[in-house]
Amino acid sequence: MNRMKQGVLTTVCMLALTAFATGSFADTKKGQKIDGKKEFEEHCAVCHKDGGNIVNPAKTLSKKDREASGVKNAKDITATMRKPGPGMTAFDKKTISDKEAKAIADYILKTFK
Ligand code: HEC
Repeated sequence: MNRMKQGVLTTVCMLALTAFATGSFADTKKGQKIDGKKEFEEHCAVCHKDGGNIVNPAKTLSKKDREASGVKNAKDITATMRKPGPGMTAFDKKTISDKEAKAIADYILKTFK
């Protein structure tokens, strides 16, 4: 193999590595748009499939049920994640950052009416 070819190969390899590294850290990258739907499906959908509630069917994510529990806006939804009622997993900032929590809350507010 000549020097030229070797140089090209090295460049290709480095580019591939860079792409890989950026891809795997996309979740925490600064300024990156967080996908509320994806986060919801990852952390919440096990119990709140389609905005329902498999543990306590009286407490779905519909506007009516939420507001009956005093969960009215994005701040209230985040507060619920940090300090949930009986039967729900608590999510600390390490598991779901404030930014991710806000994205999930916005997704819930616009999706489950
Ligand atoms: C292990 C099951 C489980 C998981 C996972 C879970 N929840 Fe819940 N969730 C519950 C239960 C049970 C309640 C009712 C708690 C109560 O009685 O106050 C609830 C209540 C809520 C409520 C209030 C709804 C109402 O009608 O009062 C919100 C909002 C909510 N969850 C959001 C979330 C979000 C956002 C996530 C993901 C970050 C999540 N939950 C993950 C089980 C779960």
